[in-house]
Amino acid sequence: MKSAAIVLLAAASSFGAGVPTFSGDVYPILKAKCQGCHQKGEVAPMAFTDYQSTRPWAKAIREAVLRGSMPPWHADPKASRAFHNDRSLSAAERQRIAAWAEGGAPEGPAADYAAPERRADGWKLGKPDLVMRIPGFKMPATGDVPYTFVAFPTGLTQDTWIHAAEWRIDKREVVHHVNAFVRPPGSSYVAGHEPLKFFVPTITERRVGRPGEGAFARRELLVGYEPGYAPIPWGPRQGKLIRAGSDIVVEAHYNTNGKELVDHSELGIYFAKQPPAERVVTISVQNMNFTIAPGDPAYRSDAVSGFDAPVKVVSVQPHMHLRGKAMRLTAILPDGRREPLIDVPKYDFLWQTTYFLKDPLALPAGSRIECAAWFDNSPNNKFNPDPKAAVGWGDQSRDEMHIGFTEIAFDAKLDAERVLAPEKKLAAR
Ligand code: HEC
Repeated sequence: MKSAAIVLLAAASSFGAGVPTFSGDVYPILKAKCQGCHQKGEVAPMAFTDYQSTRPWAKAIREAVLRGSMPPWHADPKASRAFHNDRSLSAAERQRIAAWAEGGAPEGPAADYAAPERRADGWKLGKPDLVMRIPGFKMPATGDVPYTFVAFPTGLTQDTWIHAAEWRIDKREVVHHVNAFVRPPGSSYVAGHEPLKFFVPTITERRVGRPGEGAFARRELLVGYEPGYAPIPWGPRQGKLIRAGSDIVVEAHYNTNGKELVDHSELGIYFAKQPPAERVVTISVQNMNFTIAPGDPAYRSDAVSGFDAPVKVVSVQPHMHLRGKAMRLTAILPDGRREPLIDVPKYDFLWQTTYFLKDPLALPAGSRIECAAWFDNSPNNKFNPDPKAAVGWGDQSRDEMHIGFTEIAFDAKLDAERVLAPEKKLAAR
């Protein structure tokens, strides 16, 4: 009698109320934190949109969430600000998923797993006001493809504020990244190429401006796409500015994958309903002058940008290549106080996430942002394409980069050129 009761109790705790169910416990987590990628037509190879499609993956899901490889999110919460696009799991959520898988991955009461919401036209933010369509880039099956450019006249006859921009990628399997830049009229930036025709500019053309030309008068990063990308509008009172007569210049990096393909990715632009109070620009806190010695397991590079006007930090995006190991961005106030922005202790080149601050960080004039990057050029780095190479700045993934892309917002009436502190002044601080 007594032993039967014990058996019953044991059964109840392992298969009964104690085991989380798919419909009641796990599905809501997958919906909130995984389906953005794990659904048909998105980047992940399998969909976690109902019990049938998820059940075979239960064991792999358990391992991935316990290991921390899924969902991809690399900011250390203890040394970073809070981010509004945070998709990481809480310890309780991880445990619930693990307990479900360990308990036989039961469905529980069958539920109606509504298909994730998708717009028929494929634009996540709705129908854009302006669309730039890449005019069919023909990918070879093999080899390196140099960064390829194409310029689109916007046809805008007045200065135009926009509240969002979205990349709709066509051939995800070969698009490594695409960046859209605004090129105001009169800019020297890769100028003189016929619009709507692909071209490959020289490095000098890409880097060097006209003497005295303002950084934003030359070009401004509008929006980039890279693995981990999700289109997110700026805040309700914020926008980017496209001057009348500007072009959009697209810089595309394609990686061959053994097949010939034609890419028609599209950029959608959404006009602001009214002029915003704050202008957003993307700056690169970067260092282009470094050489990582062969085999160096922890090379450190430092970069800094400063501000001559009050700004707010809107988002940060660490960018390195295959030897990237860790990156940290820190704001330093004029009184010397240090405010951590983000700490990515284990950088993963496969995931180029933009981290949007939940509460944009206000910095007074005279503040600066430091960006420290660490690289692992040793054979212990499993992604290292060549530990025997000395490595410096370059486009291809076997070269390196050190950039902390940072979106800042400031009073829309200010001249953007006066917001960034000149390098000389910065060095004196
Ligand atoms: C930003 C996009 C993204 C999000 C969010 C995401 N995944 Fe993934 N996931 C991928 C991609 C892409 C792959 C395939 C490539 C790879 O394995 O890295 C993948 C692979 C996997 C795999 C198989 C490979 C492995 O690591 O075992 C599992 C399991 C997985 N994801 C589980 C999850 C779970 C569970 C969540 C949510 C808690 C999640 N993923 C959220 C993009 C995502």
